[in-house]
Amino acid sequence: MTAQKSPVSPITWLDNRVLLIDQNQLPKEYSTVEISSSQDMAEAIKTMIVRGAPAIGVAAAYGMYLGAREIETGDRTEFLAKLEQVGELLRSTRPTAVNLFWAISRMLKTANQTSGSVEQVQKTLLEMAKTIQAEDVQTCKDIGDKGLEVLPATPEKLNLLTHCNAGALATAGYGTALGVFRSAWREGRLGRVFADETRPRLQGAKLTTWECVQEGIPVTLIADNMAAHCMKLGMIHAVVVGADRIAANGDAANKIGTYSLAIVAKAHNVPFFVAAPLSTIDFELSDGSQIPIEERDSVEMYQVGTTRICPEGVEFYNPAFDVTPAALISGIITEHGTVAPGDLKQFQAKQLV
Ligand code: MRU
Repeated sequence: MTAQKSPVSPITWLDNRVLLIDQNQLPKEYSTVEISSSQDMAEAIKTMIVRGAPAIGVAAAYGMYLGAREIETGDRTEFLAKLEQVGELLRSTRPTAVNLFWAISRMLKTANQTSGSVEQVQKTLLEMAKTIQAEDVQTCKDIGDKGLEVLPATPEKLNLLTHCNAGALATAGYGTALGVFRSAWREGRLGRVFADETRPRLQGAKLTTWECVQEGIPVTLIADNMAAHCMKLGMIHAVVVGADRIAANGDAANKIGTYSLAIVAKAHNVPFFVAAPLSTIDFELSDGSQIPIEERDSVEMYQVGTTRICPEGVEFYNPAFDVTPAALISGIITEHGTVAPGDLKQFQAKQLV
């Protein structure tokens, strides 16, 4: 076993407000932002101060509580109607990560099922937000440990490649794909993380490498177009990525570039795993073509730092996610174990809703 430093928690509840690590400032600066209203939480999700599917879900759960606290009425029916509007506000922030919608639904269901005064419902909502956060940490640890069972057995330590950031910063702590790497590191099985830089927002370069460096995990940064070369040279034993939404047939949406990475992995016989909690599975969608794909501002494409990298007169296309077909996925690692993408249905009854 390797001694481990604790991973960071991107979201902290502080008596009456939420503290978020400002992920837009990393790695240049570690700073936090205080959030005291549902409007500010919606803005923080939209502007990616907090990002990553499970973390967005936890943030939205606290956003629901903050919104509940803002409703000034003692009338239960009026309160529940206004809470629906808070849900609408938070839902409008980002369309792809289903954990956002899952957490909001869970908070609304809790409000509807809690009897007693408005004040009692508000109190219960805060408890539920804390529960969703605590569950996510445990879920990620379970994903990490279950992932160990499917990583290839190799005489040498494993070199594992990931895309974007599916780490502690993207969850309530520990991470999904990076959770698997953390568990492998703890067990002495991890040699090195390879992090795709992840154009255009560079979550791999800025966040995944930052998390690894914080904890002393060896990490090598590569540009997104280097993965095939590295695999051809035998440098990568497996790929593990996170997901923002997985359809019932196992098609998985994740950060743009994941799909091409899966194709490259298939071409080189490198196992390609998706690590995600059950809250990321959308059983209402039969396949990945129904997953809404967020398109973001073109400034993410034409500007690096403060420098414009292409001439005026160019047009842009900036989808934030793509869908990896189930056929390219070796297994989906969940907190309940790893299954072939086509076998997800068995987990439907276990999903907390
Ligand atoms: O746009 P982002 O940074 O929110 O996208 C994040 C990802 O694509 C992650 O891989 C995904 O949310 C899984 S996080 C455990």
